[in-house]
Amino acid sequence: MVDLHAHILPGIDDGSLSLEESLKMCSMAYQDGIRTIVATPHIGKFPNTKEIITQKTEELKEELKAQKIEIDLLSGADYEFTPEIFTLLESKSLLTINQSRYLLLDTPYSLLPPNIEKLIGGLVLKGIIPIVTHPERCLELQGDLGILYNLIKAGALIQVTASSIIGKMGPKAKESVDLILKHKLAYIIATDTHGINKRPPLLSEALEIASGIIGKEMALAMVTTIPQAIIEDREVVIPKPLPLNKA
Ligand SMILES: [Fe+2]
Repeated sequence: MVDLHAHILPGIDDGSLSLEESLKMCSMAYQDGIRTIVATPHIGKFPNTKEIITQKTEELKEELKAQKIEIDLLSGADYEFTPEIFTLLESKSLLTINQSRYLLLDTPYSLLPPNIEKLIGGLVLKGIIPIVTHPERCLELQGDLGILYNLIKAGALIQVTASSIIGKMGPKAKESVDLILKHKLAYIIATDTHGINKRPPLLSEALEIASGIIGKEMALAMVTTIPQAIIEDREVVIPKPLPLNKA
């Protein structure tokens, strides 16, 4: 399996606190069947840059090699939704997932930026495909999942969180993620791990539960072939979402 969203680099955001924790997270992920992890520290909420993240990813890769933990670690970032992204894109300082066309966007917990569709459309015009993360944990989207159709129409891909699927992010997130899955509004399941305890780096339990909701084939694609296509910068073919309340 491939985990596209992980705060696994030590000490540079609110994720892993130490090298020891990062290595433990990678071991846990390996035991769970994950073989590739994209390290995606926050950019915006924390003063990280492409250079800092690339360097820190290399350092953790070296440690993984030394400890013989067979995880393929790639670099990426979890960007705050701001127009600053366009400035970074112009100056070639944008850190996409493994230098692909795909960019992770951190969805706020309460309200979406008012210009979110424009922001997504603007990025798509410039050849970047935004991946909108954890909509099931956003209050505004929980109240109106219809917005997701517009984001998808604007060209975004949607990623949901493994721990929401297993019910660890509260009943509202669980209810929303089930609806999102049933209506085929999301194509990627990732951990968004922040530590060995805070959203641990595990996908298999969520895969099992998601299989019961959308079928084994689609659920498996969401943790294998779809994220694999993303890290290889290939086009992702997504199913057509079902009309709301018709699933
Ligand atoms: Fe994140």
